[in-house]
Amino acid sequence: MLLEVEKVYKSYQLGRNTIPVLQGVDLVVKKGEFVSIMGTSGSGKSTLLHILGGLDTPDRGSYRLNKKDMLSLSDDERSWIRGHWLGFVFQTFDLLPEFDLVENVSLPFLYNSSDPETMRKQVENAIERVGLAHRRRHRPFELSGGEMQRVAIARALAVNPKLILADEPTGNLDSRSSRHILELFQELHRSGTAIILVSHDEKVAAVSERTLHMIDGYLQ
Ligand SMILES: Nc1ncnc2c1ncn2[C@@H]1O[C@H](COP(=O)(O)OP(=O)(O)O)[C@@H](O)[C@H]1O
Ligand SMILES: [Mg+2]
Repeated sequence: MLLEVEKVYKSYQLGRNTIPVLQGVDLVVKKGEFVSIMGTSGSGKSTLLHILGGLDTPDRGSYRLNKKDMLSLSDDERSWIRGHWLGFVFQTFDLLPEFDLVENVSLPFLYNSSDPETMRKQVENAIERVGLAHRRRHRPFELSGGEMQRVAIARALAVNPKLILADEPTGNLDSRSSRHILELFQELHRSGTAIILVSHDEKVAAVSERTLHMIDGYLQ
């Protein structure tokens, strides 16, 4: 098993009001599995993904990733896991505009202890896998939205993660680029990477192996 989440709760405090968001999420994902999580806007999908990525902690519940108890780690251990086991893809691509593709895709290595030659090879390989080798010295503003998202996927891939967490990765793309990006996720899955892809777009469910729905604060 790659990931085991049990009875995860999370609420936000807004003034005197408590907003319950996650109300007992259970989730088990096998090694290499491709799971999509659907749900309306505000249903808590991003909140869950942040917890899975070690970017946020739940109020209660348990979370193990590759047998590690993710909720009792030191900051250093959490950074190590983020830098070696996880890749992130966001709706807004989140590329650094002043850096070219190679530099953007190299960023996760700030938190990864690979030697420079391994890093260089993995970065070039990731850029090739998303089909942008000919643009490697371009900067993000010279690319289309679909291409920018491919760079973001290359960045997620570069460290050879066990799991890619994608939050509405096609949310800012036209339907043709969306299709291309979803095909790319399918390819990554075929090559053995586990993927959790969150979206409110029903088309996304068609490419994954298993679809769960976030309803009333838990997955069903
Ligand atoms: N940092 C925060 N502080 C207060 N409320 C938040 C915060 N983040 C998210 N929320 C609220 O939690 C709910 C779930 O948000 P989110 O996880 O972003 O949903 P989704 O990604 O499914 O659209 C929403 O009602 C949102 O307003
Ligand atoms: Mg969201």
